[in-house]
Amino acid sequence: DATIQTQMIIFGGTGDLTHRKLVPALFQLHLHGFLPKDFSLLSIGRRPKTHGEYHQDLLDATKKFSTKAIDDQEFLDFAKAISYFRLDFDNPEDYLRLKQTLEDRTSSDPERSFLFYLAVSPDYFSPIVENLESSGIRALPSLWQRLVIEKPFGQDLDSATLLNESIARVFPEKDIYRIDHYVAKEMIQNINMLRFQNTIFGPVWNRHHIDNVQITVLEKEGVGTRGGYYDHTGALRDMVQNHLLQLLAITAMEPPVSLDADDVRNEKVKVFEALRPFGPEDLSHRLILGQYSGYTQEDKVSEDSTTETLVATKIFIDNERWQGVPFYLLTGKAMKNKTAQITIEFRKSNPYTLDLDNQPNILEIKIQPDEGITLHLNVKKPGVMDQMTMAEMDYCQSCLYLFNSPDSYEKLLLDAMNGDSTLFTRWDELQLTWKYVDSIQSTVNGDRNTLLKPYNVGSFGPEELDRFVDSGASTWWFQN
Ligand code: BG6
Repeated sequence: DATIQTQMIIFGGTGDLTHRKLVPALFQLHLHGFLPKDFSLLSIGRRPKTHGEYHQDLLDATKKFSTKAIDDQEFLDFAKAISYFRLDFDNPEDYLRLKQTLEDRTSSDPERSFLFYLAVSPDYFSPIVENLESSGIRALPSLWQRLVIEKPFGQDLDSATLLNESIARVFPEKDIYRIDHYVAKEMIQNINMLRFQNTIFGPVWNRHHIDNVQITVLEKEGVGTRGGYYDHTGALRDMVQNHLLQLLAITAMEPPVSLDADDVRNEKVKVFEALRPFGPEDLSHRLILGQYSGYTQEDKVSEDSTTETLVATKIFIDNERWQGVPFYLLTGKAMKNKTAQITIEFRKSNPYTLDLDNQPNILEIKIQPDEGITLHLNVKKPGVMDQMTMAEMDYCQSCLYLFNSPDSYEKLLLDAMNGDSTLFTRWDELQLTWKYVDSIQSTVNGDRNTLLKPYNVGSFGPEELDRFVDSGASTWWFQN
């Protein structure tokens, strides 16, 4: 009976993302009562499958990938809202069948809405969107139709522009939700609270008090089975263009006039506009590219690959607040530990009354695996002598809310259904971040062979990293 009002349609229903992230996230939203009334998921894949087989695949995956205990029966009850639909992404007739199915399933009153989610290889982004238009699906009367689109959004500014043009012919910008799952991580969302809801940080969040900022996102895993994608991409495009630059913008932006999507994104755009361009004179001191040992033997990786699996780069934001403050960005695969954090190193105070060697205050925002905030302070060492030591004030969010932090995809899916695009990337943000990354790529290109530094799997990265941080305490704080 056609009562469905919120119809989500995932292209890539048998893929890794759907199994690992999307369905487990939808299940958690269901358990918490966050899914809209009459929600239903139509999951699209190319292989023939019965609904029953598909539900069993999803149950197995959800049990494997959830951090929470899963009750089989509860999941199978939820799965009644999930149907499988076979479709060939390039076949226009299949889209006509899809249109008919959507018409049959959903309530015909105009309250119905469609959330299209592209969890497919980027080669299919444009063909799918064009078929949504030519099949007449886009013209189905509805309250709203939104398009959620995964990364990578292009390989550089030119390809991203082409892709955007083809999508923008079918969906207006306000209905395009480009995912950056880092922005939805709990501790990243927390940065706004920390910065703007505590009066103690506002006055010192600038070049007068902050010496440098370090943004590190390190992974223990290598490329695994994704060599085919990764070897044409590399860490600059895979991580810096999106996740790391987003973290930089959120850390550095001016207070937005409100937390509305466009107010927040306007401020991020201003940060991207103020990035100091990267040119040949910067190669020697603003960039390290690394490649882990054995990378070229990985599956689907070219034997003479010069793709970087690690990037360290020093960025300046040329505005009043940040002039002269280096932002050090570091990301790498096959490193010693999986860890992501933002570290703010404050300027050292002038120890005018005591002849003591104090340390800079450090504010660590821990993103993963631990979530929390640590503030390092100079304090007196107990005893009769005047001595100093460092104390750590620690807010361990993951200790207090064991496993209760929602996965980013829970937040992103809920926001997309509610029409809140604050955590999604707007086209002008993408344009500017690609422009910046393109400027690094084009500077590097001829020199890739000489620039690429080897590092051992499970290490802290190439030894050149040790000398890279050249301000403040001249150290990478994540190592401490
Ligand atoms: C993805 C990258 O966007 O983020 C991957 O394509 C990377 O290469 C992943 O492994 C890291 O995400 P997370 O949430 O596991 O830190």
